[in-house]
Amino acid sequence: MAINHCMPSFSLVFLAMVTIVLAGQARAQSLCNKADYQPLCVSVIKGKTDAHSALESAITVLISQSHRAKIAAGTKGDSQNLDVCKENFDDAISNLKNSLKNLKNRDMASLNINLSAALTDFVTCDDTFVESSETNPIGKTDTLLSHMASNCLYLSSLIH
Ligand SMILES: *[C@@H]1O[C@H](CO)[C@@H](O)[C@H](O)[C@H]1NC(C)=O
Repeated sequence: MAINHCMPSFSLVFLAMVTIVLAGQARAQSLCNKADYQPLCVSVIKGKTDAHSALESAITVLISQSHRAKIAAGTKGDSQNLDVCKENFDDAISNLKNSLKNLKNRDMASLNINLSAALTDFVTCDDTFVESSETNPIGKTDTLLSHMASNCLYLSSLIH
């Protein structure tokens, strides 16, 4: 009998939990609604529902992906262009680490400059190959990194 009494309240609690989870997801998705690369944005903010922690998560993912890209570049043989990419990935990582500091200090002007610098680092890797009319062997990875950096700039514009 006691169990029967409990049933309705269990389902109400469950319903409330589902509602809270779904509302959280809706907010996470809406943070990325106007991002240039929306699915990519959703995948890196890891369900965060406020712009500040979403951006923190997005930058952290981008730092680790930049490390991976540098390792990938190292497996594609020796070329001056790849050396440029590897240097630029290092530079991007340091700009992104600075961006995390800027975010913590809520220094939005510096955050914007440091994030833009990271974006430029990724774009430059590809430009180097375009200028020498060669195919970038890590072009797809590099483009993904550029898109992630654009999304970071977008997320930073949501912080007031
Ligand atoms: C980037 O961030 C670092 C660390 O906070 C800061 O010292 C530097 O001034 C920033 N760069 C620019 C150009 O604002």
